[in-house]
Amino acid sequence: MTTIQLPAGAKGARILGFGDYRPRRRVTNDELARTMDTNDEWIQARVGIAERRWAEPDETLVEMSVAAGGKALAASGLAATDIDLVLLATTSPPTAIPGIAPQVAHQLGIPRPGAFDLNAGCAGWCYALGSAADSIRSGSARNVLVVGGERLTDYTNLDDRGTAVIFADGAGAAVLGPSDVPAIGPVVWGSDGDLHEAIAVPLGEKGMSMAGQAVYRWATTKLTATLEEAMRRAGVTPDDIDVFAPHQANLRIIELMAKRLKLPERTVIARDIVRSGNTSAASVPLALSALLESGEAKSGDLALLLGYGAGLTFAGQVVVLP
Ligand code: UT7
Repeated sequence: MTTIQLPAGAKGARILGFGDYRPRRRVTNDELARTMDTNDEWIQARVGIAERRWAEPDETLVEMSVAAGGKALAASGLAATDIDLVLLATTSPPTAIPGIAPQVAHQLGIPRPGAFDLNAGCAGWCYALGSAADSIRSGSARNVLVVGGERLTDYTNLDDRGTAVIFADGAGAAVLGPSDVPAIGPVVWGSDGDLHEAIAVPLGEKGMSMAGQAVYRWATTKLTATLEEAMRRAGVTPDDIDVFAPHQANLRIIELMAKRLKLPERTVIARDIVRSGNTSAASVPLALSALLESGEAKSGDLALLLGYGAGLTFAGQVVVLP
């Protein structure tokens, strides 16, 4: 019988460079308090956000993704022609058809890559990172661009204080390539579909609804185990973790997770939510870009990542920073 041949693939994958795009317009809590019944004190105390970025009409999801992707490509040292797979994690596409990954690839000058959008809620970028690393290891791809981009303001009722103060826009990206030494640990992913109604744009409506307390309870009771499993499967312990970059949904959740994991004092904790709000699938790469740019995180640092959100979905992994 004829057997199907498989490519050899690479020993491992690694992140070669990050890029980000933050919309021009900063929206402070005081600005929101002028038009809705909210205040800076409540938002800072309950969510941890001081300001967020909202995209202007010309800052489309494609444009933001191209900007972040272009920056990541430049940081990686690769040429656009080296990329053969583009994954675009988003929950807020401009239209259902077509997906935007092929368009983003085209604008970046990447010739005919495999390209698709991926919707795994706020966990999307970590899902895409895991899929990209596995594609490189299996030989399905050599170099992959992984973008997380959102224009959540298109899917938020900007008069609803329950969601408008939280969600924001932006894009973050990374370029991945093959590595002889594994630098992206196994992804630990999963979903709790029985809770799918907790974060949703209900049929026929334009704005997102979120059962905040239920999601808070789920995140703080169920996801520490995912983080521990991601470390265990990568063969590292909390003491090895230099950077903790979970989804930026709520500063209280971030601090609680860090405490439960007993991360050492020296571990740098991503708190990009303070300046960027909740950017869903863009939040982890945006947070990592900011830490690398400020010098708080360094090349070679070991970072523990976690995405979680609508679905409800979750995905975590340990990576070496570029
Ligand atoms: O990205 C996907 C994953 N998402 C998450 O992980 C979100 C998890 N959940 C949360 O982060 C929090 O539940 C929220 C930040 C969404 C809400 O915080 P909370 O502490 O759970 O507030 P709450 O919904 O229990 O509301 C407490 C009070 C209510 O008033 P009453 O009923 O006690 O009088 C709300 O009406 O705060 C009121 N409230 C506000 N007050 C001022 C709700 N939103 C606001 C607001 N400003 N923007």
